[in-house]
Amino acid sequence: MTRAIITGVAGFIGSHLSEELLKRDYTVIGIDNFDHWYDPDTKYKNLEHSLAHHSFELIKDDIRTINFSSLFEEGDTVFHLAARPGVQDSWGNGFLDNVEINIYGTQRIFEAGLETNVRRVAFASSSSIYGSTAKDEGRQIQPISPYGVSKAACEQLATVYHERGLSLVPLRYFTVYGPRQRPDMAMNRLFRASLPGSYRFPLRGDGTQSREFTFVNDVVEATIRAGFHLDISSLEAFDIGGGISASLNDVIQMIQEITGSQPRIDNFPLPPGDPQVTMASTQNTKEALEWQASTSLIDGLHSQYLSLRDNLVPSA
Ligand SMILES: NC(=O)c1ccc[n+]([C@@H]2O[C@H](COP(=O)([O-])OP(=O)(O)OC[C@H]3O[C@@H](n4cnc5c(N)ncnc54)[C@H](O)[C@@H]3O)[C@@H](O)[C@H]2O)c1
Repeated sequence: MTRAIITGVAGFIGSHLSEELLKRDYTVIGIDNFDHWYDPDTKYKNLEHSLAHHSFELIKDDIRTINFSSLFEEGDTVFHLAARPGVQDSWGNGFLDNVEINIYGTQRIFEAGLETNVRRVAFASSSSIYGSTAKDEGRQIQPISPYGVSKAACEQLATVYHERGLSLVPLRYFTVYGPRQRPDMAMNRLFRASLPGSYRFPLRGDGTQSREFTFVNDVVEATIRAGFHLDISSLEAFDIGGGISASLNDVIQMIQEITGSQPRIDNFPLPPGDPQVTMASTQNTKEALEWQASTSLIDGLHSQYLSLRDNLVPSA
């Protein structure tokens, strides 16, 4: 059985990736430390289906300390998703977690991957590395948040370890949404602010900021192709974007249509670190991965709503 190792397996994207790989008959070894950045119970719930599968093994451990060299085997494919995400939490002392989890944790995986001769490490980078330049042909690696810097540093590490012979694929995810979306992310919050309860959505800026939104199943498909099917020896990074640009105001409007009620909103100024626009450039992704996102924003939001509706305890 072909082994897939997933770090951050209990998270939003990792748990979907695990389920899909199990469906395709891979053996999945998942690592997660269930940190308290958001509720660990939510993460256990994310893993419900994987845990019930005979080809799944969960290792509850920390990527900063686990002995990867004794875990990885020659020929393994590693999907490295564990990180401290979230732009706003990366300011101030929050950057220490970005350094230790995102940068150091990633370097440990690359080092052990090289030593044990794994097949490939496909890892989660982010649109945040582009800062305000992710909108046109002039895109550059120019982060405007400490989180973006941490992901750019991971890509720099990739060039170093690729040079030494490790097969690596950086995947620059653009705002991912869908069932199990992290509770700090805008759509999850907007749905909560629309459902009965007193939770209010903190709208930062005037809502005209736009994002390229990518449905989680599309992200999973691209990630699997990058890990298992991509035939490449050079180091190439791929934008994983859903092909849908919408403003936050557009999303608010759609969520209102789906839930039938207006989200409760408080207004705040735009914080530093959030670009006005993000837009993916997916030509090389389409060609190399033979992949194109196929989920419309309204369909994706609807499926996120259905999965949230029955589980949500309205929060104060
Ligand atoms: N969700 C998005 O829109 C998005 C966009 C761009 C990039 N990304 C990247 O994709 C990856 C997955 O994001 P997500 O939204 O699923 O986040 P998530 O927080 O839901 O998942 C991350 C998982 O990693 C685990 N983790 C954190 N620190 C760990 C450690 N030290 N050791 C072991 N496990 C640890 C967490 O417990 C969590 O389950 C991250 O690398 C993130 O930076 C996500």
